[in-house]
Amino acid sequence: MTETKKTLVSMRGIDKIFYGRHANRGVDFDLFAGEVHSILGENGAGKTTLMNCLAGIYLPDAGSIYIGGEPVFLPNPKAAIDNGIGMVHQHFMLVPVFTVWENIILGLSDIPLVINKEEIIARIREISDRYGLAVNPEAKVWQLSIGEQQRVEILKMLYRGTKVLILDEPTSVLTPQETREFFKTLKNMVAAGHGIVLISHKIEEIMEISDRLTVLRRGERVATRRAAGISKEEIAEMMVGHCLEGASLSEERREPGEVVFVCSRISLKDERGAAALKEVSLSVRGGEILGIAGVDGNGQDELCEVLAGLRSPDSGSVSIEGNDITHQRARGYIEKGISYIPADRKGVGLVANMSVVENIALKGYCRPPMERGRLFMDWAYITDFAAERVKDYDVQIPDLFAPVRVLSGGNLQKLMLSREITDTTKVIIAMQPTWGLDVGAAEFVHKRLLEAREAGAAVILISKDLQELTSLSDRIAVMYGGEISGVVEGPQKTDVEKIGLLMAGIRERA
Ligand SMILES: Nc1ncnc2c1ncn2[C@@H]1O[C@H](COP(=O)(O)OP(=O)(O)O)[C@@H](O)[C@H]1O
Ligand SMILES: [Mg+2]
Repeated sequence: MTETKKTLVSMRGIDKIFYGRHANRGVDFDLFAGEVHSILGENGAGKTTLMNCLAGIYLPDAGSIYIGGEPVFLPNPKAAIDNGIGMVHQHFMLVPVFTVWENIILGLSDIPLVINKEEIIARIREISDRYGLAVNPEAKVWQLSIGEQQRVEILKMLYRGTKVLILDEPTSVLTPQETREFFKTLKNMVAAGHGIVLISHKIEEIMEISDRLTVLRRGERVATRRAAGISKEEIAEMMVGHCLEGASLSEERREPGEVVFVCSRISLKDERGAAALKEVSLSVRGGEILGIAGVDGNGQDELCEVLAGLRSPDSGSVSIEGNDITHQRARGYIEKGISYIPADRKGVGLVANMSVVENIALKGYCRPPMERGRLFMDWAYITDFAAERVKDYDVQIPDLFAPVRVLSGGNLQKLMLSREITDTTKVIIAMQPTWGLDVGAAEFVHKRLLEAREAGAAVILISKDLQELTSLSDRIAVMYGGEISGVVEGPQKTDVEKIGLLMAGIRERA
């Protein structure tokens, strides 16, 4: 790697727009032969989108891609592979019932008419030996660990002769031991002249393996730097930026009251038996917003489900105002005044084919005043109630009896809040409440959460958006690997760097 660097690919001025919003804006990116070039950035920064453009999955709306100095057109993944570019996605795309070798040749453009299995296997073995990608070619994919499946995906690309390998968050599915092995493979590949693009959040790991790094923020490139000599703090700062406003929407904050909601030493195993939550303890006061930050998949979803009563933890407890409610059903949580605003509004929160009125009735239907006697619903009351909520929350609807599927994202969320935030709400658990909303609707949601806090509710706000968290939260707990990696009190703009490090699993500042 001391000889002059050969540029494998160049991207210039890449724009990619989804629904009128730039996922990438004017991004330049170069990859040299023999380097690991990492792309860093917060969730939603546009990392995957940029590389999807290079891998022929998306066509950029503007900009050009050059290979060996020549412009190329990459309308589909096959075109990218033909140009020596392969991508391994966050979610693997293997067929579980097929063997490793079958998966590797699947989709090859020049599949021979007569398949010579021995020859294919011999070639796979040769590639695995060369790069240290140990896997049995005759094993069925479903029998493999996640780490092995990742190796198959990489083998699949190398088998196709790709020179440029793009890996999207590859270490997020690996154990530390597997990561070490994986890095050895990467070193073997760059030594053989390949260029590797590594997308990741984990700053510490990136530093170890990268030659250069590019930081994206909100779709734009912040910097491209040599990794040597750069500090974690500098990277974290580039990722989150200086420009976070950090100002609270309400100046005079109410003093938080008594502790209302407590979860203590919550542990939970996921479907594969791995620990999704490890002894998580949190407490929230009335009149307080506790923010929960973290990179996707670090246990936030599971924690949220436990706190909302949708899932029982394997151990640990949840209590409200001193009463243990750990193993009560979701209905019991609702009756205790716990409201849940899920990220998936249509799937979990609202029923798309039911009307506005019915959706509002969903929560309170089995008790007065919505219920009349034990058998009847008081529809006149419910309709009036719904009309009032819709007016208060400024939900734009064609008709109270229209199915909610016709509502826009912002209006769905307003409807959701109008149902979930009431006078009797003691605890609000809001999961990505502004995800996918436009600025106006997002601000509306923020205001309502702040109002609920002023009214004395204990609010837990789970979000990937650090700006949202720092501007609303009284405290921020950061999750990493199913644990709370740290808590930042009274977060300021200046704490963003610290939060960024905690999100990357770095507890102690170097
Ligand atoms: N297929 C898509 N349709 C609509 N929006 C998308 C699509 N893919 C990505 N986006 C949006 O583009 C932005 C960047 O996303 P992405 O590139 O996945 O970010 P990252 O990989 O950095 O987390 C996000 O706001 C995301 O919601
Ligand atoms: Mg991504």
